[in-house]
Amino acid sequence: MTKTLIAENISKIYGSRNNQTLALDRFSFEVHSGEFLGIMGPSGSGKSTLLNVISTIDTPTSGRILYEDTDISSIKKQALADFRRDHLGFIFQDFNLLDTLTVKENILLPLAIGKVPPMEIKTRVDVAAKLLGISDILDKYPTEISGGQKQRTAAARAMINRPKLILADEPTGALDSKSSQALLESMRNLNNSQNATILMVTHDPYAASYCDRIIFIKDGKTFTELYNDGNRKSFYNRIISTLGALGGGINDLL
Ligand SMILES: Nc1ncnc2c1ncn2[C@@H]1O[C@H](COP(=O)(O)OP(=O)(O)OP(=O)(O)O)[C@@H](O)[C@H]1O
Ligand SMILES: [Mg+2]
Repeated sequence: MTKTLIAENISKIYGSRNNQTLALDRFSFEVHSGEFLGIMGPSGSGKSTLLNVISTIDTPTSGRILYEDTDISSIKKQALADFRRDHLGFIFQDFNLLDTLTVKENILLPLAIGKVPPMEIKTRVDVAAKLLGISDILDKYPTEISGGQKQRTAAARAMINRPKLILADEPTGALDSKSSQALLESMRNLNNSQNATILMVTHDPYAASYCDRIIFIKDGKTFTELYNDGNRKSFYNRIISTLGALGGGINDLL
C-alpha cells in the first residue's frame, strides 16, 4: 500500500514564553492512500491541532509533514494554496460557512475557481445535497438553518471537488443519529468510490466504528491504535474499552 501522508515528529507549541501549551508532542504517523482513519482522544489532547497543521492552516513548531512526498510544512504560499484547492476537503468543527452566501453557493464555492463546467457543477451539487438530505434548503442562508443542516452543508462543500484527502473535525458532532449515519455512509462511499483518504476526528464511538483504523491521542502523543477487523460490533466494543483505558474520552460525551 502506498503511503499518502506522513507526519514525522511534529510538535506544536502555542503561546509565548511564560504561557506555553504543548499541543502536539513529537507526534508521528503514516496514513495509507484510501485509508479511512479515525482520531480520538480527550478534549484538549491535540486532535484539532493535528488536523490544522495537516491542512496547512497552521504550521508545526517542529517536525515534517509529507503529502505524496512533498513537504507541506515548508512549501511556499502559492503552492500551499494550490495544494489546498487541488487535494483537500475540510469539514471544520465550527462549520465555517459564509453567511452572505446561500447553502448552494457555499457548497459550490470550491468549484468556483476551477475548470468544472456549469452543468457538471449543478449535477454535483444536486447529488451531494441529495446524499446529505439538504436538497430543500439549497436557497436558504446559513442563518436560516439548523446546526445539523449547517454541518451537512459543510460536508457537501468538502466533498464537491472530489478531494483526495478529506479532513473532518467532529463532522457528526451536531447531527442526530439519522443524519449522522447518512453523512458517515456518504464519507464511506467517497472513500470507496474515489479512493479518498479520510482523517476524521470524533468523540463518537459509533462514528469511529466506520473507520479502518483509529489512532487514540493523549497529551499530543499517540496513546494506542485499533484496527477494524470487519466486524462493526466487536470494533465498537474495542473502541469503548480503549476510551475507558484512555480516561476522559468517553466522559467528554456525558
Ligand atoms: N490558538 C491556540 N492558542 C493557544 N492554545 C491553544 C490554541 N488552540 C489550541 N490550544 C490548546 O492546545 C491544546 C490542544 O487543543 P486542540 O484544539 O487541538 O484539542 P482537541 O483535542 O481538538 O480538543 P476538543 O476535543 O475539545 O476539540 C489544548 O490545551 C488547547 O487549549
Ligand atoms: Mg477539537
